[in-house]
Amino acid sequence: MARLTRLAAIAALTSSVYGLDLKADSSDSIKSVASTIAQQMVSYYHGNQRGKTVGLLDSPPYYFWESGAMFDTLIQYWHLTGDNQYNDIVSQGLQAQIGPNENYMPTNQSASIGNDDQAFWALAAMSAAEAKLPESQGNPTWISLADAVFNDQVARWDNSSCNGGLRWQIFALNTGYSYKNSITNGMFFQLATRLARYTGNSTYSDWATKTFDWTTAAGFIDAKWNVFDGAQASTNCSEMDHVQFSYVAGTFVTGAAHMYNINRSNKWKSALDGLLRQTLSVFFPDGIAYEVPCEKRATCTTDMHAMKGLLAHWLVDTIQMAPYTSDAILPKLKSTASAAAATCNEGACGFEWSTGDKGGNKTDVGYEISALSYVQGLLVGEAVGPVTASSGGTNATGTSTGSGPGTSGTTTTSGTGTPSATANAGSIVGAAIYTTGPVVALLGSVAWLIL
Ligand SMILES: *[C@@H]1O[C@H](CO)[C@@H](O)[C@H](O)[C@H]1NC(C)=O
Ligand SMILES: *[C@@H]1O[C@H](CO)[C@@H](O)[C@H](O)[C@H]1NC(C)=O
Ligand SMILES: *[C@@H]1O[C@H](CO)[C@@H](O)[C@H](O)[C@H]1NC(C)=O
Ligand SMILES: *[C@@H]1O[C@H](CO)[C@@H](O)[C@H](O)[C@H]1NC(C)=O
Ligand SMILES: *[C@@H]1O[C@H](CO)[C@@H](O)[C@H](O)[C@H]1NC(C)=O
Ligand SMILES: *[C@@H]1O[C@H](CO)[C@@H](O)[C@H](O)[C@H]1NC(C)=O
Ligand SMILES: *[C@@H]1O[C@H](CO)[C@@H](O)[C@H](O)[C@H]1NC(C)=O
Repeated sequence: MARLTRLAAIAALTSSVYGLDLKADSSDSIKSVASTIAQQMVSYYHGNQRGKTVGLLDSPPYYFWESGAMFDTLIQYWHLTGDNQYNDIVSQGLQAQIGPNENYMPTNQSASIGNDDQAFWALAAMSAAEAKLPESQGNPTWISLADAVFNDQVARWDNSSCNGGLRWQIFALNTGYSYKNSITNGMFFQLATRLARYTGNSTYSDWATKTFDWTTAAGFIDAKWNVFDGAQASTNCSEMDHVQFSYVAGTFVTGAAHMYNINRSNKWKSALDGLLRQTLSVFFPDGIAYEVPCEKRATCTTDMHAMKGLLAHWLVDTIQMAPYTSDAILPKLKSTASAAAATCNEGACGFEWSTGDKGGNKTDVGYEISALSYVQGLLVGEAVGPVTASSGGTNATGTSTGSGPGTSGTTTTSGTGTPSATANAGSIVGAAIYTTGPVVALLGSVAWLIL
């Protein structure tokens, strides 16, 4: 109680004196604050400058995944606010990093890329398809890029320990190859569910179900719907690391919401409700998003600064897939967005929102991803839902064989470039799509190149 009172005092003080003045019930105010934070976020990106690489934030300190996550945040920014000023850098970035096999494994990253890193880019491509970011002629379609990553990871499913699951790392020499973790399997789960919803192809939903069932059976998710970090394959996943990060829970919440959207069975309703309840309870003490394992002692790393924002991004998607969840989610987004905005000034946002700490000069792109995702998320009620192939999206999945432009799945038409597609917000695609729905047009033969 004392803490809440102090928080309210800090919020009142900072919002008038230092913070960005967010009126959480005014869409103009939300858009204005979001626009300021988006600009701050993009100021960290120098990919178009001489000597820099298109599509990448500076490394160090940023790993490959975070650039993909930043572009995904910008797609959601456009989708929610209608401001398309960053769409060109997003498109260029997402195309520049596809790599020689059109699967988001650029050669430069091969020393360090993990399954989760690769999946962040696939999810950004998926968002591009769902928001109808224009396809670019001669390049693989957004959906074919997401599908290529999906197929890579299917081939990496590992039965040799723990009765299945994906390893964190792709290459055996990398630290973490022996670790099987929830984020890796949860990102693959989310990707599979979104491909399933978008295409209606049951290969994806079968893998989503299999991955989810494995994750619960292996104890990575417990009976109370806590989502733990992972376990070593070398001990057959017998010793669980029980630390809980917010985005790990978030990827399972949104995956469950996508499954619920395409199949309203009890299985997915109870998974969604259980995961959501536990996630909101663990990560929003006092109603403000909080990175439990590191925030109290200020030991969050650069990677960890973006995690709360990824959670927000996926909670917004959850509302779109299962609108009834809005009653539980939106109040948390509101209280967090106000607290976050109060720590921002014209140059940067803070991170420890529940204390009102402005972060001094200690800031990075993750601070901005996090603050922006809560603020822009407040617009979810005004936004249209993501499209599917049958509601105005691009159908072709195709292949990624590295043979360059002109291969199957390469686009020959441009999208309309507006997010105002035909799907209604939170529209539910009937389960009938599996049996009677359109079959995805697969142009040409399928020849997956497995690395
Ligand atoms: C790979 O790294 C080189 C050298 O830094 C750079 O010039 C090139 O643009 C990078 N390619 C990609 C796809 O990131
Ligand atoms: C893994 O084992 C399952 C049965 O437990 C089997 O269906 C599947 O084909 C196996 N996958 C691989 C890649 O060996
Ligand atoms: C590993 O654990 C699985 C259950 O997760 C069990 O089925 C399997 O027999 C175990 N393998 C070994 C080698 O202990
Ligand atoms: C919906 O999910 C349930 C539970 O997993 C499953 O038994 C059923 O086959 C699914 N229906 C469709 C059409 O996929
Ligand atoms: C932040 O940096 C500016 C100039 O770089 C400096 O004047 C200011 O004292 C710093 N603030 C904090 C809290 O460290
Ligand atoms: C995708 O397929 C559906 C169903 O066959 C069709 O109605 C829709 O027009 C197609 N979209 C495109 C962009 O081809
Ligand atoms: C469904 O997707 C899988 C995975 O990409 C692909 O192998 C299969 O051909 C697709 N099926 C149809 C009917 O398009």
